[in-house]
Amino acid sequence: MPPATSPRLSVVIDTDPGVDDAWAILFLAAQPDIEIVAVGAAHGNVPTAVAAANALRVLDVAGLDHVPVAVGHPTPLQQSLQTSEFVHGDDGLGGNAGPASPRRTSPETAAEQLVRLARQRPGELTLLALAPLTNIALALRMEPGLPRLLRRVVVMGGAFRVPGNVTAWAEANSAHDPEAAEEVLRAGFDLTMVPLDMTEHAWADDIWLKRIADAATPAARFASSVLDTYVALYSNARGTAGCVLHDPLAAAIMADESLATYEEYQVMVELAGHTRGATLLDDRKFDIPQGGIPDQRPPVRIAATVDAATAMDRIHRALVTPEADR
Ligand code: RIB
Ligand code: CA
Repeated sequence: MPPATSPRLSVVIDTDPGVDDAWAILFLAAQPDIEIVAVGAAHGNVPTAVAAANALRVLDVAGLDHVPVAVGHPTPLQQSLQTSEFVHGDDGLGGNAGPASPRRTSPETAAEQLVRLARQRPGELTLLALAPLTNIALALRMEPGLPRLLRRVVVMGGAFRVPGNVTAWAEANSAHDPEAAEEVLRAGFDLTMVPLDMTEHAWADDIWLKRIADAATPAARFASSVLDTYVALYSNARGTAGCVLHDPLAAAIMADESLATYEEYQVMVELAGHTRGATLLDDRKFDIPQGGIPDQRPPVRIAATVDAATAMDRIHRALVTPEADR
């Protein structure tokens, strides 16, 4: 049920569940002062239809079966669809998605839903974007005033001073739709990026994951049940048992921005060549006009440091604390 008192934050989530997306939704659902207003399903980890079905499942587990899910655009703005079932499992939830939700998705698209809600609640809504930014770019084309209608936007995406995770240079959410990321990052939203530079600190090792697995709440049981493929991939990649909680960290920072510190930069997305999908900033400390970002786009905030230990503790607490004790 929505919070009894007026919520501190009212959030629309655009997401491609996806294991870490599912964890992020469960984390936010456990915050008594945050209202999840609606969910947009995006392509990325899985096709949009699978993302939508999984979003319905996770919301049902979280007791939020009143929250609508709208299906997003099935493909990136220009390139062909690329998905990551090798990371998240063929069903996007580690092969344990379970039975489909009895609920249906909304008749409107994710972009239409976002524009409608932003117009109905001007200045009130926070957008948490945990997927390629296709739906956000389409919403922006539908409503060019969107940057002024949304309170703020928090994006899990990009990689600046660490390697990408889809190519050596490009992080998944920007790599899976570079044109959309470029349109959104130059549009003038009050936008905070939580890049791989930060999320790589949200490492859940096997001891931490066992504390979740040992808990009896529906959220902890579901969260643990979907991990197999995801943990296997990250354990193999890192040489030690565990996984990175990208989207839950972005959700935790959205819920409490004091968890991070920030720097402001103009950000552009490379659209050509080997580095296509890379997110670029110019951090030269001397003012040379040429050779940097080629226009006067507004800056965005980039999380530069994060208290990952506190964030991980809050993610743990959200999943293992029974609803009655929150
Ligand atoms: O690069 C990590 C991001 O890409 C996360 O949002 C993950 O869910 C995938 O969508
Ligand atoms: Ca995601």
